[in-house]
Amino acid sequence: MNIPCIDLGKQPLANKFIPKEDLGKNEYKYHLAYEFNPDTYLLSMVHQPDMSDMFNDSYPYDSSGSATMVTHFKDMADNINKNFFGNILEIGSNSGPFICNIDKKKNPVAIEPCSNFAKITRDKGIPTYDKFWNSDTAYEVMSNHGFFDVVYSANCMCHIKDVEEAFFAVRNVLSNDGTLIMEDPSLIDMLKLSSYNELYDEHFTMFSVHALQKLLGKVGLYINKVEYLLNIHGGSNRIYASKTMGGDSSLKNALMIEKYLGVDKVDTYHLFNERIQQHRDIFTNILYEYKDLGKKIISYGATSKATTTFNYCGIDSNIIDYITDTTPAKQGLYSPGMHIPVVSPEEGLDDSIDIIHIGAWNYTKYIMDKEVNYQNKTWLTEVPFPRIIKG
Ligand code: TMP
Repeated sequence: MNIPCIDLGKQPLANKFIPKEDLGKNEYKYHLAYEFNPDTYLLSMVHQPDMSDMFNDSYPYDSSGSATMVTHFKDMADNINKNFFGNILEIGSNSGPFICNIDKKKNPVAIEPCSNFAKITRDKGIPTYDKFWNSDTAYEVMSNHGFFDVVYSANCMCHIKDVEEAFFAVRNVLSNDGTLIMEDPSLIDMLKLSSYNELYDEHFTMFSVHALQKLLGKVGLYINKVEYLLNIHGGSNRIYASKTMGGDSSLKNALMIEKYLGVDKVDTYHLFNERIQQHRDIFTNILYEYKDLGKKIISYGATSKATTTFNYCGIDSNIIDYITDTTPAKQGLYSPGMHIPVVSPEEGLDDSIDIIHIGAWNYTKYIMDKEVNYQNKTWLTEVPFPRIIKG
């Protein structure tokens, strides 16, 4: 039985940035809430918006847009090139920072439903299917390319509503001794960091290793190893699973830590929901106090996470003058729900700013090291709790 436990109120689609001419029009909003199932341990969304409204030919999030992610995917591709044999399939390849670095002898194939990004990898010679991942796509891909020895998927499985079917389809395309390697944001990091803004329309499920172990077990896949990725999306898990039973000490450790933090109990999520309400009050008070003093506040990085925070806290352009973002597809538009203008860093970063809120909080160190000209400003974050980090 699913038990409702986390409520983030009415939210827009986190990546649906709005052109000026559409500001007066009716904007789609849905109720962002999560429920926990004590039998499956799954923490999943109560009402997920339609996937084709989120992932389509105008999807703006480019995983090649940050140096951290580009290096991360290149390192992982090098690792796979060296340590794994056979054909490789990537599910959710975005603009290709992983699959484009895979050795062509491994016959890389990509699945990417956002056709604007699918085109990029296809143009680089990688067979790319602009389709959602499910059993039909698996059948088509397998008919054309045979079985795969590695299926890699980063920040994608948590987007899929019928995830059991998606894993079943993975199992069917894997060779008998093939490996599924998947990366997704870590549930315990969200709990530890109070980073409720990891929750938005695209994150249908926040996986714990507990939940994945049960879910994968249902389709005949077994977790063999868990790696923790400290700097990726605020903390992620990389899971290695295969058709062969038997996990090493990393799996046992991950399960032990999760149990200690109570991921298997609904009370943990009820408490989290209470904690984030206090979090919201403290964060908005800090911003209002600065605004009352006449300070100019901007936000750095028009992230999906910031969409959740700003809509949950009711922070609009009366508080935040604008958001800077390096992604050309977001610049000149307005943030979902709260309609804060998004501008390029070149346009937005200048000496008139007093306070910089870090919307891309998972890149805090990278950003602060980079922005040497703005070290004299006040830098503000809300993760793991609202506070001034500099200034
Ligand atoms: P992400 O947290 O989902 O990776 O999204 C990061 C967003 O923040 C993306 O739109 C790019 C933007 N960004 C900047 O504008 N400047 C930066 O230095 C970094 C790291 C990200």
